[in-house]
Amino acid sequence: MKKNWWKKAVVYQVYPRSFYDSNEDGMGDLKGITKKLDYIKALGVNALWLCPVYQSPMDDNGYDISDYYHIDPSFGTDEDMDELIYEANKRGINIIMDMVINHCSDEHEWFQKAKKNPEGKYGKYFFIKKGKNGNPPNNWRSIFGGSAWEAIEGTPYYYLHLFTKKQVDFNWENQELREEIYKMMNWWLDKGIAGFRMDAITYIKKAEGLPSFESDGEDGMVSVSYGSLNQKGIGNFLTELRDRTYGKRNAMTVGETAGVPDEEVVDFISQENGYFSMIFDFSYCQLNLFEPNYYWYETRKWTPEDVKREMFHSHGLAGEKGWLGVCLENHDQPRCIDHYLYPDGRNYYGASMLAVMQMMLRGTPYIYQGQELGMRNCRFASIEEYDDCSTKNQYAGARKEGYSHKEAMEFMFDMSRDNARTPFQWNKSENAGFSIKTPWLKVNENYHEVNAEKQMKEQGSIWNWYKELIELRISSEYTEILTEGSMCPIMEEQKNLLAYKRVWQDKEVVVLCNYQGEEQKAQLSNKWKKVIKDNYGKVISEEKETLLLRPYEAVILEM
Ligand code: NOJ
Repeated sequence: MKKNWWKKAVVYQVYPRSFYDSNEDGMGDLKGITKKLDYIKALGVNALWLCPVYQSPMDDNGYDISDYYHIDPSFGTDEDMDELIYEANKRGINIIMDMVINHCSDEHEWFQKAKKNPEGKYGKYFFIKKGKNGNPPNNWRSIFGGSAWEAIEGTPYYYLHLFTKKQVDFNWENQELREEIYKMMNWWLDKGIAGFRMDAITYIKKAEGLPSFESDGEDGMVSVSYGSLNQKGIGNFLTELRDRTYGKRNAMTVGETAGVPDEEVVDFISQENGYFSMIFDFSYCQLNLFEPNYYWYETRKWTPEDVKREMFHSHGLAGEKGWLGVCLENHDQPRCIDHYLYPDGRNYYGASMLAVMQMMLRGTPYIYQGQELGMRNCRFASIEEYDDCSTKNQYAGARKEGYSHKEAMEFMFDMSRDNARTPFQWNKSENAGFSIKTPWLKVNENYHEVNAEKQMKEQGSIWNWYKELIELRISSEYTEILTEGSMCPIMEEQKNLLAYKRVWQDKEVVVLCNYQGEEQKAQLSNKWKKVIKDNYGKVISEEKETLLLRPYEAVILEM
C-alpha cells in the first residue's frame, strides 16, 4: 500500500450488532457483514471501521473487552473474522479494527486475577487503591455518572473506571501491561488488518497520585477529565505505542481524542511523525450541549454559524501538515439530519448539503452505516426500550435534577446513542430486512420510506448522492485536489453560508453550502468554469460569478 494511503480513503463505519443478522438471532454478526460487503463496495468506499467484535460481556456493547484475541460468540467465530478480512481485502476494502486499550472488561482474566491479589502482578495492571475512611480514594466522577471508583467486595480496595464499573482502567505506567498491549496489536496487524480506531485514547495517562480536585457539581465530585484527560506526559506513551506497533507498518490510525489543546493538534496528526494518521474532528458534535462530554440531557440552541466556526477552526489548526478524520455521525452521536439541521432542512436538500459539506473537506471522510440513506433518530416508547448504558444514566440524571419523565424522554429522543444504533434498514420487509427474528433494538418505523433497496434503485436518492461524492473524492479527475489541496474558508462573514475552496497547483474547487431554509446570493471573486455538482441539479447564476442559492443548496464548482 502507498505511503499515507488513508488520505485517499473513504471509511464506512459498521456497528456490527445492527448491520445484518445472518444467523437469525436478532443480532447482527460478522457473517452478516461479509454477506453485505458487495453493498459496501457498491457505495464506493475503500475502508471499513468495525466497532468492537472481541469477546465481551457487552456492558457497553463491546467497548468492554474480556479477551482481545477472540471474537465474541454473538458475532460469530474467529474463522468468521478471518473470512471477513479476506473477503474485504479481495474487494479492495481495508479493515480498521476498533482498539479499546484505555480499559478492559472486569471479566478479563487479568482483572479477575487482580481482584484476587490486588498487590500482585496483575493488580499493578490497573489502578487499585485503598479507600479513605470508607470513601473512594478520590472524588472523580465517571463519564457515565456516579463515582469512578468501585469497591472490590470483601477488601479495603477500590478500582478506577472512567466509564462503567465493568470497564476497568489500565495502568499505562506499568511496562508489562504495555508490552502485552503491543503484542496483541501486532498480532492483529499480522492478520492483515489495515489499522485501528483508537478508543478513548487521550485518557490513558492519569495525573500522578490520582488527586482529588475541587468539585464541579452538587454531588461533591469532579469530572474525571481533570485528572485523566490528555495529561502531561501522555506524548511518551503515544510515541512508544506508535513506534512499537502501527508506526512500523504504514497502518492507518484514527484517534478518538477528546481534550487535545489547540497547540498540540499537530503533534497528534502531523503526516510526518504524528502519533496517529489522523484524529476525529468532533469540535461541532456537541454544540448543542451545555457541558460537552457530560450532561447531555441538557441541550441549548445552536446555529449554523457555530458549526461553521468550529469546523473551520479545527481545519485551521490541522493546516497543511496535519490530517483530520471528518465525520457527521457515529455510534455515539444522533443522526446528522436531526443533529445538524433545523426542521425545515430535514429533507433531501438538507441531507445532501451536509454530505457535500463533509465530503469535500480536507481529511478522510467517515460515513456511519445508514447515514448514506438519511436514516433518522428514533423515538423509543419507554426508557426500558433503550439499551445503551449511557442513555439510562443520563435519564436517571435528568430525573434526579427534577425533569419530568416526559422532559427527560425528549432529551433522549435528541441525544441518545441508540438513535444511531437501530438496525440498518435494508428493505421494506419485516424488521427492515435486518433479521427475521425480533431485533435486539427497535427498528425505526420509517423503514418503508428509508431503506437501501429503494434508494439504490432511485435516481436522485441520498444513497446515489453519497455514491457520486465518494467517486468524485477517490476516483475522479478531482481526486488529487480533493486530497492534497489546501483548504481555506471563503465568504466567512456571510451568515449561514458555509463556503470553502480547495486549491492545488493551478486548480481551484469552490464548495458552497447554503445552510438555511431561505435563499441567499453568493458573490464569487472570479468566474467558475464548470459546475461539478449541485444538489438541485442546475445552478441559478448570471455571469458565472453570482449564484442564487436556494434553501440548503450545495454547489461544487471548478474555478
Ligand atoms: C468511545 C466509544 O465510541 C463509546 O461507544 C464507548 O462507550 C466509550 N469510548 C468507552 O469505551
